[in-house]
Amino acid sequence: MTQLTIAIAKGRLQSGTLELLANSGLCDTRDALSSRRLAIEDDSGRFRFIFVKPMDVPVYVAHGIADCGVVGRDVLMELEPDLLQPLTLDIGRCRIVVAAPVDMAGSGYGMLRVATKYPHIAAAHFGARGQAVEVIELSGSVELAPVLGLADCIVDLVETGRTLDDNGLSIVEVIAESTGRLVVNRASYQLKPKAVGALIAALEAARSEGDFAK
Ligand code: PRP
Repeated sequence: MTQLTIAIAKGRLQSGTLELLANSGLCDTRDALSSRRLAIEDDSGRFRFIFVKPMDVPVYVAHGIADCGVVGRDVLMELEPDLLQPLTLDIGRCRIVVAAPVDMAGSGYGMLRVATKYPHIAAAHFGARGQAVEVIELSGSVELAPVLGLADCIVDLVETGRTLDDNGLSIVEVIAESTGRLVVNRASYQLKPKAVGALIAALEAARSEGDFAK
């Protein structure tokens, strides 16, 4: 039996991914949500799941440690990994935005300071319009940066908008929409075609059922 290792992004995508896998009939590993185990096998032994930080999903898949992964488009835009992306999943929907303090008068004429977990996306976005920026890379709680004067604005994810609201920031512009993506290692796609094909087909069917139910 061929076993597939699937890297799943912890955080906003994790429960949706396990839910989708359960709905697809492939395996039900939702009890992993109440555990701190970072690697589990399903009962059939067909799947091994590893739970890693979103930015690390492409790393595990690109190195072939995981055959497949589920990760947000935001991460794929940031890292541009050399992976197959056969399926868009309707989970973890959010937006990548530029946000700034509600009372900010304007960026003035100086260099705009942009705090972000997405230095590549931020540089590409402002670079495309010829705006000179200083990108300040942070690991989290990015919304604090403009509040405390470390940056003029941020490039970050917005889901409900609560974090922006609660910190006095508002959206200046939307850079992109993001949802979960299934990514596949190129060699795994060649070497395990049946198992990978079955995973894609089952997730696609479960995704369509979800659309139908809406
Ligand atoms: C993201 C993002 C915001 C928050 C937005 O952080 O960086 O802080 O979610 O969500 P909201 O619009 O629903 O308030 P994430 O939860 O991914 O964690 P992190 O800050 O630790 O990276």
